[in-house]
Amino acid sequence: MRTVDLIQRKRDGAELTPEEIEFLVDGYTSGEIPDYQMSAFLMAVFYSGMTDREVSRLTECMLRSGETADLSAIPGIKVDKHSTGGVGDKTSLVVAPLAAAAGVVVPMMSGRALGHTGGTLDKLESIPGFRTDLSSDEFQRQLAELGLCFIGQTDQFAPADRKLYALRDVTGTVESIPLIASSIMSKKLAEGVDALVLDVKVGSGAFMKKQVDARRLAQTMVGIARPMDKKVQALITDMSQPLGYAVGNALEVMEASQTLQNAGPADLTKLCLELAARMIFLGKQAATLEEARLVAERHLVDGSAYKKFKDVVAAQGGNPQALDNFVLLPNATGAREIASPRAGYVSLIDAEDIGIAANMIGAGRDKKEDAIDPAVGIILEVKAGEKVEAGSILCRLYYTKEDRVEEAAEKVEDAFHISAQRPEERELILEVVG
Ligand code: URA
Repeated sequence: MRTVDLIQRKRDGAELTPEEIEFLVDGYTSGEIPDYQMSAFLMAVFYSGMTDREVSRLTECMLRSGETADLSAIPGIKVDKHSTGGVGDKTSLVVAPLAAAAGVVVPMMSGRALGHTGGTLDKLESIPGFRTDLSSDEFQRQLAELGLCFIGQTDQFAPADRKLYALRDVTGTVESIPLIASSIMSKKLAEGVDALVLDVKVGSGAFMKKQVDARRLAQTMVGIARPMDKKVQALITDMSQPLGYAVGNALEVMEASQTLQNAGPADLTKLCLELAARMIFLGKQAATLEEARLVAERHLVDGSAYKKFKDVVAAQGGNPQALDNFVLLPNATGAREIASPRAGYVSLIDAEDIGIAANMIGAGRDKKEDAIDPAVGIILEVKAGEKVEAGSILCRLYYTKEDRVEEAAEKVEDAFHISAQRPEERELILEVVG
């Protein structure tokens, strides 16, 4: 078999055989196939796509490239939740404790911020002392004791994805449905979960800009899991504006903490309750989805999910008092207000622009090696649909270094669209697949 022949066949739209896909994944993981050939292959997939059979085989090979966690010693149904990535998306910090408080076992394996989207690990690490690099024993012990553990992705699980993702990131091949689906599902299946709830984001701040593509991505991921006897449900949710008001690591921890105390933004609370309810239902802690929604709400209102989060923070070395007393979290030193240039309605807050602006002041990273500043970010003062006057504050940028504040402020000004007419209200939860 020659790699160049497979590149050419995929370039011309042919379906590759399972053996050919295996040859490519194994060859690239072991270093026999060089980056330049794999880059060409990824670009061919980007343009020609893959059949369902090819995506399933690709996922299987990526999954087999590493270990699969064995969580069978821990009683209970293990359910994780994964988002395809967004701006201000701190749902994992709220949803995981909600589901765990209801009795679901949640082994939550999360990623870091990349591109304009945030990462759960970076958010959690803004809590002083919080560790995500737990050993396998520590992970299993905490899962058995508390029913929830947050860990980072390691090379142990789906190393082929780690290598491929890094290459996709620098070759313009991230936004491909078969590549995203196989990347997410290989990692999630390696984690040893019984069921999975997916939050597939659509809109300017998401990888999928159109609902038809988000639906296809959701269907592909649900289809990959079906023959493996794993239950997967996907919600397609709006990411045309940031979720909640806070964008930036410590700022998002503060908002998640408020949400767990039932004092969070309406959109964030609504989405977290629905995602948690799906986890509770798949985790068999409620007989129907309706009942699961009531269970999720009860654990929000009675404070048990908040207590669960604090227990988990303490168990992973973090200071749980920082969740009540925000001065204990990293705080920015400067603030810059962005005012509305005219009166009208906020018709759009472009999530991608907000994510890019937050990165400019240090909330995210352009390259994997970059350090992030946990204190900085953006707090929106308004959401789409609200009426503003000329000079009303639209948002505030919180920073610790001045160097890119002006550039970020310009980006944020571009993100806000003010129109004379009230915009049509956009649904937050658009569809359910699976
Ligand atoms: N998240 C992943 O893990 N992989 C992708 O390809 C995109 C988002």
